[in-house]
Amino acid sequence: MHLLVINGPNLNLLGIREPDIYGRGTYNDLCRRISAHAEACGATVEFFQSNHEGAIVDRIQEAYQVVDGIIINPAAYTHTSVAILDALKAVAIPCVEVHISDVDAREAFRKVSYVALVAEKRFAGYGFDGYLMAMDYLIETYHS
Ligand code: DQA
Repeated sequence: MHLLVINGPNLNLLGIREPDIYGRGTYNDLCRRISAHAEACGATVEFFQSNHEGAIVDRIQEAYQVVDGIIINPAAYTHTSVAILDALKAVAIPCVEVHISDVDAREAFRKVSYVALVAEKRFAGYGFDGYLMAMDYLIETYHS
């Protein structure tokens, strides 16, 4: 199973940004953990991080008929982006939403998620583990 992990704006600053909320692990630490888990599960994984909404839309479109599952943390675009929602609907690739923090326990505006309208599942508030949980879900559901 070939998976694409997409991370949205400011997640390149993991380890620096608000460590009390997002932890001290860096973006590279996150990618290393996901890669190790994928290898253990017999899956392959590629990563994409961007601070730009259109770049994320482009990357989702490129995944059409190439990728078997998408794990996405759209970060702030979760709460605003119809374009990312529409791109995920357009390619119809099974998709899981991940948030490092428990978005439902934070400011009211973080309770709104456009991506939730297309994502099959959401893991929020589990730190980096949420990405691994998303991977397990996709493998269990789609790797027969
Ligand atoms: C986040 C939560 C979002 O509300 C926030 O804008 C982020 C990160 C998370 O992983 O907890 O940038 O998606």
